[in-house]
Amino acid sequence: MHKFDTNCMTLTRFVLQEQRKVPEATGDLTQLLNSIQTAVKAVSSAVRKAGIAKLHGIAGTVNVQGEDVKKLDVLSNELFINMLKSSFTTCLLVSEENDTYIEVETERRGKYIVCFDPLDGSSNIDVLVTIGSIFSILRKTTDEPLSEKDALQPGNKLVAAGYAVYGSATMMVLTCGRGQGVNGFMLDPAIGEFVLTDVNIQIPNRGKIFSINEGYSHLWDEAVTEYVKNKKDPKQGKPYGARYVGSMVADVHRTLKYGGIFMYPATKDAPNGKLRLLYECNPLAFIVKEAGGLATTGKIPILDVQPTAIHERSPIFLGSKDDVQDLIDLYKKYSN
Ligand code: AHM
Ligand code: MG
Repeated sequence: MHKFDTNCMTLTRFVLQEQRKVPEATGDLTQLLNSIQTAVKAVSSAVRKAGIAKLHGIAGTVNVQGEDVKKLDVLSNELFINMLKSSFTTCLLVSEENDTYIEVETERRGKYIVCFDPLDGSSNIDVLVTIGSIFSILRKTTDEPLSEKDALQPGNKLVAAGYAVYGSATMMVLTCGRGQGVNGFMLDPAIGEFVLTDVNIQIPNRGKIFSINEGYSHLWDEAVTEYVKNKKDPKQGKPYGARYVGSMVADVHRTLKYGGIFMYPATKDAPNGKLRLLYECNPLAFIVKEAGGLATTGKIPILDVQPTAIHERSPIFLGSKDDVQDLIDLYKKYSN
């Protein structure tokens, strides 16, 4: 027997098939997801040849977060914006790379709002370590003129979320929520298509890995300090392994597949942590929850946080249900 997959369940085909299950669907979400897919393919191609095409290094500007912008950040952002606008399905975009929200021209408007980080893990770009793209999709809920308020919806209102990981291979992980599950599609460069490889990803209830930047341990609160101490203490069971890529997408992807916990807590000098709610925390929390895991600020579920600004940050702990619950219990203990 040949090993060629003649069924070839591509991402495009999968999304179309899912759309057919919803009789009232217009096809807009399918169209939107296809345009994101194209942006991801183009970013993946740019990432793969960046060193040769002289795309490594900084662009010479600083973004709204005060960080150096890399050339690949700029290129990825332009690709996402162009593809999203030309899908005719979006009205408002929020990008990590743009200070203010982006309004789509009237004649190209649709009902969806997309918040995205076009290239996450910037510090890893020039050293060929895994990076990614993250996106979340919301619906415009009012007939009022476009404003920042349209994007300030809690994560439990997401219509869909996904990420692409540019690692030893390129993969897209996607969920449309509502208990439909999380699926992973690997890019087959030979045919230029994402092919379904990871069906209905379920995060293990407990893992063996903790993932946090321990360089900031002098700035942690008591709950995080005790949690990490416990995970390394042989008296508390077999100590967990430590893994920290420094690209959220990569750390979360590993957590989703192997289990364990990823943490980016508040610190004494950054009381809301570092990661951005709208386009980093919410989409990844939505995916983890849909895969059977948990995502919390330590005090409340990430998806329940009511955003007040498009670039706001949140502490985040996500991963295996039991591992995250241990952390929530410690937060309860120290709040008394
Ligand atoms: P970026 O959006 O500028 O790439 O920053 C976000 C990244 C995350 O991918 C990662 O989890 C985190 O920053 C790492 O930060 P730190 O170096 O403080 O541990
Ligand atoms: Mg980022």
